[in-house]
Amino acid sequence: MWSGFPLFPEQASTMAGRVDALYLALLAIGAFFSLLIASLVVGFAVRFRRRSPDEIGTPIHGSMALELVWTLVPLGIVFVIFLWGAEIFFSMARVPPQAMEVYVVGKRWMWKTQHLSGQREINELHVPVGVPVKLTLTSEDVIHSFYVPAFRIKKDAVPGRYATLWFQATRPGKYHLFCAEYCGTKHSGMIGSVVVMEPAAFQSWLTGGGSGSLAAQGQKIFQSLGCVTCHRADSAGRGPRLEGLFGRPVNLATGEEVVADADYVRESILTPAAKVVSGYQPIMPTYLGLVSEEGLMQLIAYIQTLEEPAGAADRAQGRKP
Ligand code: CUA
Repeated sequence: MWSGFPLFPEQASTMAGRVDALYLALLAIGAFFSLLIASLVVGFAVRFRRRSPDEIGTPIHGSMALELVWTLVPLGIVFVIFLWGAEIFFSMARVPPQAMEVYVVGKRWMWKTQHLSGQREINELHVPVGVPVKLTLTSEDVIHSFYVPAFRIKKDAVPGRYATLWFQATRPGKYHLFCAEYCGTKHSGMIGSVVVMEPAAFQSWLTGGGSGSLAAQGQKIFQSLGCVTCHRADSAGRGPRLEGLFGRPVNLATGEEVVADADYVRESILTPAAKVVSGYQPIMPTYLGLVSEEGLMQLIAYIQTLEEPAGAADRAQGRKP
């Protein structure tokens, strides 16, 4: 298989070859038509030049065949480019369901990453080779952009919301990680590396640290902020139960229905009155300023682990267990 092009960064993800192929095709099409047009301009200028001072050109009244050719041929070409680009765009946007999750927070001027196992890194991200990795990205201050040229991925980290992107590394090694959005004085120093490891080496790296899993850290915050006094598992709390909540639809007081994803949980912690669950009062105080972006990600990881106890789902739906 074709493996790279001079001046291009290394190809180290499943997406890299596909992006390069499209890019090179665009370049080739652009070069072909530029040369064609430029040589026709020069060729016609020479061939049809005025040969004597009194020469008068013959009027031309157009050609249907020519019009059709130079309309339909480019139309066909741009359709091919569109479909090709859309196909790559969709595979970049669709995160494989079995992807390993990592949370990333950008701040001036560093990248902070957290693994579900609890491992935390600064300006580094260790991942196993051959495994799809899903990143949930946000920023603590201004817009940054997470950019790994060797993987051909780039995504803005925007304060106040989560963005996701994914990649699957294809060869072990150390690859540049950049911030690709100007974010102040030390923007150019907001760099790091993605370390791609063999799965076994990655497993031993993972077990190296020990501050508890991301969810366990989230549980600590959950308890220290007293969330548990209202969000009780026995449905006797003043707030809705959180067991089995994540990823499921929620009915709101307004009659709308939303899916309890990471963005919804984050918003409900920081702006509790924005989407009140049907049947509850908007009495929850805001936790804006009390939980860091990393803490919010830990809380989300914790809430994701809260499962409905066996049989409870049946009871909630009025069925006999
Ligand atoms: Cu962060 Cu540029």
